[in-house]
Amino acid sequence: MTLPDLPAELKTALDARLQGLSRNDAAERATLISQTYRDGGNSATIRSEADALAYALARMPATYAAVTASLNALREITPHFVPKSLLDVGAGPGTATWAATEAFSSLQRFALLDPNRALRALALDLGRDSVRFSEMTYQLGEARAALAAAEAADLVVASYMIGEMSDAERTVLAELMWAKTRDTLLIVEPGTPAGYRRIIALREQLIAAGAHVAAPCPHDGTCPLAAPDWCHFTQRLPRSRAHKQIKGAELPFEDEKFSYVALTRAPVAQHRARVLAQPVVTKVEVTAKLCTPDGLVVAKVPRRAKADYARARRWRWGAAVTDETS
Ligand SMILES: C[S@@+](CC[C@H](N)C(=O)[O-])C[C@H]1O[C@@H](n2cnc3c(N)ncnc32)[C@H](O)[C@@H]1O
Repeated sequence: MTLPDLPAELKTALDARLQGLSRNDAAERATLISQTYRDGGNSATIRSEADALAYALARMPATYAAVTASLNALREITPHFVPKSLLDVGAGPGTATWAATEAFSSLQRFALLDPNRALRALALDLGRDSVRFSEMTYQLGEARAALAAAEAADLVVASYMIGEMSDAERTVLAELMWAKTRDTLLIVEPGTPAGYRRIIALREQLIAAGAHVAAPCPHDGTCPLAAPDWCHFTQRLPRSRAHKQIKGAELPFEDEKFSYVALTRAPVAQHRARVLAQPVVTKVEVTAKLCTPDGLVVAKVPRRAKADYARARRWRWGAAVTDETS
């Protein structure tokens, strides 16, 4: 499993760009960008080198952690997947590419695409000294046009990206991304009800087109969750000093909520139940909300079932587990 912290090489590259940067100015830029997102806007507010760096300092640690957690879940379910090529759609500063690089030492070719010049320039700059990225291309352009010219890849990723377009555009994009997916397509979104709805819509669309779900769902059926509930997970990540300064935060960590789906061409060999919230552990029993191949289950593992209870005590929100209580 890969750690949620940014890799040392990326931290060093970011730190080098921090020299001479006014933290106050970066914090103001990051606040404006976050406010734009909260108001339903997109990353078009990221225009300059300073904006791109402020965005990366404020958000890259969390989106990296969310993509890493999603890739860890994927790897656990499909341990024999050894992708050689990656296509990062809406790559921004290259966050998902870095996360995939850490997760899969097999990756050799990296194709990124994005219409944002400032983010593209930052991504290329951050990856410049890495030997892993000697075969990296970064196409400047809007996804639907750029994908038409892109080569298919073993692993296609769109991280925190599909929320920046209309439903109609997203439907077209989903089809194009799937067409470029040789093996696995991973979509990661903020863990909000809206992010979840986008994931579910894309999931349904692509299952109808022949895709299978590797994670988080242990089935290809309809999601058993009903509003106001929604499927999301959380990943804790450390905050560096610069990260805290940019966010005006005190705590040395933050918890990133995210939703994701990993879709594969081949069906998954064996599904396990997914823990959908942090289980409640008491001296009497462990209570856990599980998504199973047969639907939603609230598993109660009594203390008297010693071995099961000991195992269930270690269950964590987001984990794939074997539920022997059902
Ligand atoms: C929130 S950022 C996420 C960037 C990166 N994937 C990450 O996880 O850090 C969203 C990215 O999607 C890109 N984007 C938005 N609309 C796009 C489109 N139609 N085609 C390609 N990229 C797009 C933006 O330029 C921006 O870089």
